[in-house]
Order: sequence, then structure tokens, then C-alpha cells
Amino acid sequence: MCGIVGYTGSAPVAPLLIEGLKRLEYRGYDSAGIAVQEGDQLQVVHRKGKVATLAHTVDHFDFKGTCGIGHTRWATHGKPSEANAHPHTSCDGRIAVVHNGIIENFADLREELQSEGHTFSSETDTEVVAHLVERAYNGNLVEALREAAAQLVGAYGLAVTCANEPGVIAVTRKDSPIIVGKSENGAYVASDVIAMIDATRDVVVLGDGEMAKLTADAVEYFDAEGNPLSPKITHIDWDLDAAEKGGYSDFMMKEIHEQPRVIRDTLAGRLVDGALKIDELDMSAEELNLVDRVYVIACGTSYHAGLIAKNLIEGWARIPCEVETASEFRYRNPIITPTTLCVAVSQSGETADTLAAIRDAKVKGAQVFGITNVVGSPVARESDGVIYTKANKEIAVASTKSFLGQVVSLTLLAMLLAQVKGRMRMNQIRMLFRELADTAGQVEAILADTYSVDKAAEACVNAHSALFIGRGMGSAISKEGALKLKEISYLHAESYPAGEMKHGPIALLDEGFPVIAIATQSPIYDKVVSNLQEARARGALIVAVATEGDEEIQQHADHVIYIPKVRDAFSPITATVPLQLLARRIAILRGCDVDQPRNLAKSVTVE
Ligand code: AGP
Repeated sequence: MCGIVGYTGSAPVAPLLIEGLKRLEYRGYDSAGIAVQEGDQLQVVHRKGKVATLAHTVDHFDFKGTCGIGHTRWATHGKPSEANAHPHTSCDGRIAVVHNGIIENFADLREELQSEGHTFSSETDTEVVAHLVERAYNGNLVEALREAAAQLVGAYGLAVTCANEPGVIAVTRKDSPIIVGKSENGAYVASDVIAMIDATRDVVVLGDGEMAKLTADAVEYFDAEGNPLSPKITHIDWDLDAAEKGGYSDFMMKEIHEQPRVIRDTLAGRLVDGALKIDELDMSAEELNLVDRVYVIACGTSYHAGLIAKNLIEGWARIPCEVETASEFRYRNPIITPTTLCVAVSQSGETADTLAAIRDAKVKGAQVFGITNVVGSPVARESDGVIYTKANKEIAVASTKSFLGQVVSLTLLAMLLAQVKGRMRMNQIRMLFRELADTAGQVEAILADTYSVDKAAEACVNAHSALFIGRGMGSAISKEGALKLKEISYLHAESYPAGEMKHGPIALLDEGFPVIAIATQSPIYDKVVSNLQEARARGALIVAVATEGDEEIQQHADHVIYIPKVRDAFSPITATVPLQLLARRIAILRGCDVDQPRNLAKSVTVE
């Protein structure tokens, strides 16, 4: 949450900061600001609202400076306002700070600093950092930041600049990402490589407690004690296209359409000589064979991918599997032994609760395996092994392509566990793998004809609430469908296992109430149809996602969205796609911003 950016070099900094902030806007978009070194002063501009509002203001300043920092905010302490927007400055206005994270002990620090005479101009936790650096400053910005950071409790990615040190930016981090890059034209810092990828693809992912001093000509790295460090360079191999809409009207639509590629890329190289190969797991077949309990730990959409994995891991490998939201898992006392495998699923790889949960699981002796989309992210670094989902950068706040990447990766993991447990023969693995690969073409077919989705969306657009139902795999899919709809259209949506309707939710139904049912072919298809009939008998408007060739369903539904026939195990891959399209279409019809829904941010780096 929150995006920070900085540049020092030979080019005018203001346009670079604004462009960087636009690319980081997915991390927060309630206010934004920049601080630029102009002559021997710092000039700070903030605005409430999106980066476009800030950009408009900055256009009226004739900034000449070539060193500065910027921020786009998702409010934690203090409402979205101009005063609370970063950068925050010291009393004398010569030090400016941008911050991503939360300073938990800010109240004590603020009181202490105020008693020493420091005056505050915002309600934020961040402002204490500007005053701590000011108090510690003795002509060396990196040293002052080190001293300030040592007093902080919480999570932070920090970039600081000081009018007394032209062309210098000091950075450090703990539990919030900081990426540093260097090109011929200067040095860059950002919360995400996307802000600098057109300047450099070789970047340094700063480790916890590490620091860097950026100048136009060089970047120096230090550990928490100030000793010089040789940084590990990470090469980024995805394209800048990921940061562009590529002809689509919004990122969400572009990302939905990328899903066939994500499936293919996630599967590439995984079947070698007829056997599954996931070397990154870093566990031998013997060690995997010992696994007797699996926890999938995740939040939001990633949690829904976990619900699908539970069906597969228990169904194929016969290993008990529990799926838990990370925010619950971290505060209870789960049963963990050395033969427990914890699978952390996180698109961003930086979700605070997921990270805390895997740290706890490791302390308790579990093997931790990460499934993430971000190379070098904290989840990737802190797991014993990692699968990358190959979705490439996902910009829209609502996850789509990363979800399919997660489902495919978890499907591979379930097959691997079944393989090592001797519960699946090689020829079965090969057959399943082929069918899994075929889903890429099947998703393409779904994307090629959205007529029935659009019609269903028109029928639902004026509803006040919607119910998503399904059984088995359909139950997990319906949860993701409901989340997509509520987060981008602000239409209340709830998901229930279809069999639970009679235990309460059916009371909600009246004339025209939308019920979206996952009614694909499965061993419990007939049961879903019975539940549909019950809903229809109470006047509900039924939208059914069904398998091509199923004529019967038309008698029970007002709108049928057909998808290609796949085995039940792979239905989450195909059946989720029309639900993504449906949610997006309804949101567009309701005039919502599908890429940047209100109150949300792409990465939830605070509890
Ligand atoms: C889904 O559309 C949301 N953006 C959200 O639920 C998200 O899946 C959740 O915050 C988890 O994020 P992560 O995968 O980056 O950990």
C-alpha cells in the first residue's frame, strides 16, 4: 500500500516522478505528492486525489531540479487530504520523506519530538520520520536515516532527500519493498520495478535493514550497521507492455485477455520425460512423500485459489489440506509438525498477513512453499521454495490473470504430491497435463464471444445485491465471482454453497434477485439444478454458467453462459473467466472505475 519513487541524475526529475507515480498508482490513489531539489531548496507539492490531479498542478511549476522523491498514498493514519499527503518535511523544510508501510510507535515518537520543540503539520505516522532524520542530521543523510530507522517499530520503505546534500537520496526498508536501479542517466528507487523498467531491467531488491545512497553517478549499498554491501542484481524479463493498456480500455480487460498466455507460460517446462518437474520446490521426492498435512495460507482472491487446491490435494494426493486466511492463521495456534507443508499464495508476495503467517509457520518447523507473481518479493525470499505464476505485472486492483496462474500452479502442486505419494500413474499425469494445457485454448474461446455475458450483465445492473452459488469446485469458484463483483461494481454480492441456500440465504430472494450459479458438468450437477429450481420458484433471476451442449439448463435459467467442457478438476480455470467478465461489465455499466476501485489498493502491506 502506497507507492514511492525517487530519481537523481541528469534529466528533469518532475516528469519522471509523475510517470513513475502513475505506474505505481495501483498501490494507492487517495493523494499524491513530490519533493524536488530546486537550487538549494526543496519544493514540495501535494494534492488530494489521483496522480492526474497532482500532475496537473505540477505542470504549472517550472521545475528544473534533477533530484526528487514522490508518493502515491493509501491512507492509514489520517484521512486522505493535502496535509496528510506525502512527502512530509522536517521543521525547517530541508528534509523530505516518503514512506510505504506503518510506523507502529509513531504516537510515542511524536510526543517525544513535540516535547523537544518539533512541530507537526499532518496526522500521519510518517511525519515522525522527517523529524527523526532532522534530529539526527549532522551533515550525512544516510547516517541520519540509519539512526532514525533504528527507532522505528513497524514496516517501512523510506526514501529521503535533503536540501543540504544536492543530488542525494537515502533509502532503507523493513517489510516493505524498495527496488533500486541505475542507468546511464541516473539512479532510481521505487516500491516496484514498474516505475523504472524503461530505464533499467537490472535492479537491486533491497533486503530488510539494508540501505542505499543514490547519486547521479553511483549507488552505494550498506547493511544495517553501515558496512558496504555488494548487491545482488535481479534481471527483470517482462516487458514494459505490462504497464500499458495495449489497446484495451482498461487494465482489467487486458489482463483477463492475457489469461491463455499465463496458463501456457505457467505450464512451460513442467512436464519432462512424462514426469512433473517443480525443481524450485527444493524438496526431494522422499521429503515430499513425508508430507502429511498441507495448509494453504492466503488472502482474498489468492485464498479462493487455495480453496480450489484443497479439493485437488485431498482428492488426488489424499493429504489433509486446510485453507486459511492468513489474518486468522497468524493469530491462532495451528498444528504444525516438520512434515507439515505450508503453501503461501500471494500475487504481490508482500501481503503483510501472509508474510507474518509464513514466518510463524517456519518458526514452528513447517516447510514453507510460496506461490507468487513477483520475483524477489518477500514471500519468494522467505519461502523454502517458490513457484512463479508467470502472470507478469498485474496492474488492475482486482486480480484476474494472477488467479488463473495460481490455480494452474496449485494444480501442478497437487499433481506432484499425488505423483510422489504413488496415487497417480505417469500416464494419468500426462493425460491430466495435456488437458490442463488445453484449457488455454478453451479460455480463448470464452473470451472470443462475450454476448451472453453482456446480456446477463444488463439484466443484473440495477440489482442491489447478488448471490453466487455452486457446489464442490463450483462453490470455490462462486466465492471468487462474488468478490470480483463486489470489489469493482460496489454491488453487494455474497457466495454460498448451493446446498446451504435453504439454511438461510433463500430468505433474501424475491422477484428479479440475481442468483449466479456455477452449473457446469460435475458429479453433483443435478443437485445444483435442484437448487436453481428452488431459487427460480421464488422469483430469482437465474444466470447459469454451464457446459456447452447442456440444453436442459435453459429450462431453469434466464441467462445461460456456456463454456467448453472440461473435467470438473479444471472447471475453476474456465468457469472463473465469465465471472470476471460479468463483474467487469456490470461495473462498467454502473460507471465504476474497474482498475482502481474505491478504498482498495493492490498490495495490502499493512495488517
Ligand atoms: C482481489 O481481486 C484483491 N485484489 C485481493 O483480494 C487480493 O487477492 C488480496 O489482497 C491478496 O493479495 P496477494 O495475492 O497479493 O497476497
